[in-house]
Amino acid sequence: DMGHVDLGGGPGPRDHANHHGTVSVADLSGDRTAAPDVTVTLTARQERFTLATGERIDGYTLDHQSPGPTIRAVQGDLVEVTLVNESIRAGTSLHWHGVDVPNAEDGVAGVTQDAVRPGKRHVYRFRVEDAGTYWYHSHQHSSVQVPGGLFGALVVAPRPVADVAAIDDVVAVVHSYRGLGTVSGRTGMQRAPAAAGTSVRVRVVNTEFASIIVSVAGAAYRVLALDGRDVVEPPEVRDKTVVLAGGGRVDLALTLPADGPAVRVDFGVGAALAIGPPTADVSPVRALEGNVDFLSYGRPAPIGFDPTRPDRRFRYVVDRRLGFVDGRLASWWTVNGRLYPDVPMFMVAEGDVVVMTIRNNFGSLHPMHLHGHHAVVLERNGVRATGSPWWTDSLDVQKGSTYVIAFVADNPGIWMDHCHNLTHSSTGLIAHLSYI
Ligand code: C2O
Ligand code: CU
Repeated sequence: DMGHVDLGGGPGPRDHANHHGTVSVADLSGDRTAAPDVTVTLTARQERFTLATGERIDGYTLDHQSPGPTIRAVQGDLVEVTLVNESIRAGTSLHWHGVDVPNAEDGVAGVTQDAVRPGKRHVYRFRVEDAGTYWYHSHQHSSVQVPGGLFGALVVAPRPVADVAAIDDVVAVVHSYRGLGTVSGRTGMQRAPAAAGTSVRVRVVNTEFASIIVSVAGAAYRVLALDGRDVVEPPEVRDKTVVLAGGGRVDLALTLPADGPAVRVDFGVGAALAIGPPTADVSPVRALEGNVDFLSYGRPAPIGFDPTRPDRRFRYVVDRRLGFVDGRLASWWTVNGRLYPDVPMFMVAEGDVVVMTIRNNFGSLHPMHLHGHHAVVLERNGVRATGSPWWTDSLDVQKGSTYVIAFVADNPGIWMDHCHNLTHSSTGLIAHLSYI
C-alpha cells in the first residue's frame, strides 16, 4: 500500500500493560469473543457497475454497489464486519475513518494487517464508543480504490435510542467517479422524502480528495457536528456555507418549511439533494440569505485535558522536493524534510498530552488525517481557533497555513497520519504516530 512499515522487530509498539516485551499490532485488537450487536458482511469486487441514475462506471464495489451499504450502529455496540475480497487482484482492506478503533482493526494494509487477497476474508471487530457520522474505505492502493468506489458510510446513533431503523436522517455521501459528481451514488437532483414542517438531520460525508462547499437553500440550518463530534459554534462556516475537508463529515439540522418548496442542499460537485414532500418544487440555489441560525448554539464544552502543558510537542511540516525513492528520481512530498518511509515516527507514551504544529509549505491544500485519535484545533495562523472545542480527524491545511492541534495519546499502536488527498499520500505525504 502506501509504503511499508517493518513490524518485525525494531521499535515496534510495546506492551503498554506490563511494560516489558514487544507485542505485535495483532494483540491490540477489538473484543474477539463477545456476541456482536451489528454483523455485516461486505463483498468487495473490481467490476463495471451501474449507478442508480444509470451511468456505467468501471471501478470497485461492495455488495455490487458504490457507495457500499451504510452501516448503522448505536453507541456502545460491538460491530463485526467481515470483508470478503472476491475479485480485487491488488488486494483490499477496510479502514474506519474517524472511528477510534483498536489498532489491529484499523485496516491499514502494510501497517496493521496484510491486504486481503482475492478469495480471502478478514473480520474486523470494534466497539463504537462515540456517536457520530463516519465512513469506511479501502486502505490498500487507496489512491485508486477509493476514487473507484470502495467506500461507504458508517452512522453511530447516540444511546439510548428506541429503534435505529426509525431514525429520520439523510445520509449524503459525496463522491466523484472520474469527474462525475454524485450524492449517495446518484447524479443530478436526488429527492429525499420528508414531511413538511419536520426536522431532518443531514449527514454529509466528503469522500473527495479536496474540500467541498456545502450550502443550503430554502431553510435555516444549524451545524450539529463536524467529524463525528458535536460543535458549539461551527468554525468553518463562511458566507453561509460549510467548507468540508476531504475525508471530513458535517451533520446539519434543518427544519422543513410548513409549506413551501423542498429544501435544497448543494455540495459543489453538480449533484444535489432536495429534501421535502416528493412532489414539492425545489428551492432555487440562490436563496442563501440569512439561512444560518447561529442563535441557538449552546456553551462550549470543556476539552477534558490541559493542552497548555503538553508532554510532547511535534512539528509536521509538509513540503516537496526532488529525491530518490526506490531508486526513482522524482519530486516527492516531504514531512519535516524527509522522504517517506524515511520519516521518523512521532513517538508517544500512553496518556501523553500531545501538541502538534502542522505547517503547509507546498501545495494548495492538504486534508490531514490522523488515525485512531481525535484532536482539538487550538490555533490557525497564530490566532486562537473559534468554535472551541473544534474536534477534528480530517483538517484542511491551506497553502502557507499553520495549525496547532492537541490530543491525548489514549489508543496504543501504530497510526497513520497522512494527507487524505490520496494522490499525495501515495507519493509520500505520510507519517506515523507510534507508542513507546
Ligand atoms: Cu480515510 Cu488513512 O484514511
Ligand atoms: Cu496533500
